[in-house]
Amino acid sequence: MFELIKNLTDKFGVSGNEEEIREFIKGEIKSKVDSIEVDALGNLIATKKGNGKKIMVAAHMDEIGVMATHIDEKGFIRFSNIGWVSQNYSLGQRVRFKNGTIGTVFFEEKLDDLKSLKLSNLYIDIGAKNSEEAQKKVNIGDTAAFCGPAELAGDMIISKALDDRSGCAVLIETIKNLPKTDNEIYFVFTVQEELGLRGAKTAAFRILPDFAIAVDVTLTGDTPDCKTMEVKCGMGPAIKIKDGSVVCHNDVRKLLTETAKKLNLPIQYEILERGGSDPGAIHLTAGGIPSGAISIPCRYTHSPSEMASISDIDNAVKLLKESLIG
Ligand code: CO
Ligand code: ZN
Repeated sequence: MFELIKNLTDKFGVSGNEEEIREFIKGEIKSKVDSIEVDALGNLIATKKGNGKKIMVAAHMDEIGVMATHIDEKGFIRFSNIGWVSQNYSLGQRVRFKNGTIGTVFFEEKLDDLKSLKLSNLYIDIGAKNSEEAQKKVNIGDTAAFCGPAELAGDMIISKALDDRSGCAVLIETIKNLPKTDNEIYFVFTVQEELGLRGAKTAAFRILPDFAIAVDVTLTGDTPDCKTMEVKCGMGPAIKIKDGSVVCHNDVRKLLTETAKKLNLPIQYEILERGGSDPGAIHLTAGGIPSGAISIPCRYTHSPSEMASISDIDNAVKLLKESLIG
């Protein structure tokens, strides 16, 4: 599992530029499904055919990042955020553009109050001598992802983009080990979740499933002086009750809860007070689609050093696999 996640988090996939991560996922699963296609927005849809229930399973393959907006005469690059990017988490970090160009994110030194730091006070230094040299490597509109190769710390994996490559890993492992079932299952690796659940919306409309299950990360309440939240790393995957975009359908929640009980898996319940996720778009599609989610507890989400428990991720695979075949 660690090797798979390491490979997944390593790939470039800032929202709207998911080509590299999509090709990698395609290579992992194409021999294991009945059909595989890429839709107009770039969602990767892998289908296991059948005559039973029509189920959509979603994990987003995009990651947050930055987009170059201006290059000054000295070659320093100003940028805008793609998805929710924290100015504090960005300080002193490295970013990598799609063509491999690496840069450091730093702040205008004159700024004496870091509390008033905004993204607009930050710039990317790619080591160029002037604007001309910078423009040979980076164009306005190019996107860059944060860097942070995956490492293991006990049962915890530390990396950028565990949101939501850990969810992608859960889908891939499920596809590779899916027991026989008559259900028709659509595994969707969605695009542009971080920009407002965009890919999930069009994919759900195309598929019109009987119900949907998404796999994504969620925040936790287990670090020093943090906000109160029930979810903890290492205590099992969480079954989503609600977030800022959806109240999960009771039937899907029940299916997940009862499956976990049957398998004797540790689970938690997630109530996320802010933020959305793919089920937020899926459940409002067409006449409405019952939707739920399995959430992987994740510390430091949207930082280059997110942390999640491998055993939670393994248990999420067990839970998803069994929930799809009944
Ligand atoms: Co996210
Ligand atoms: Zn996510």
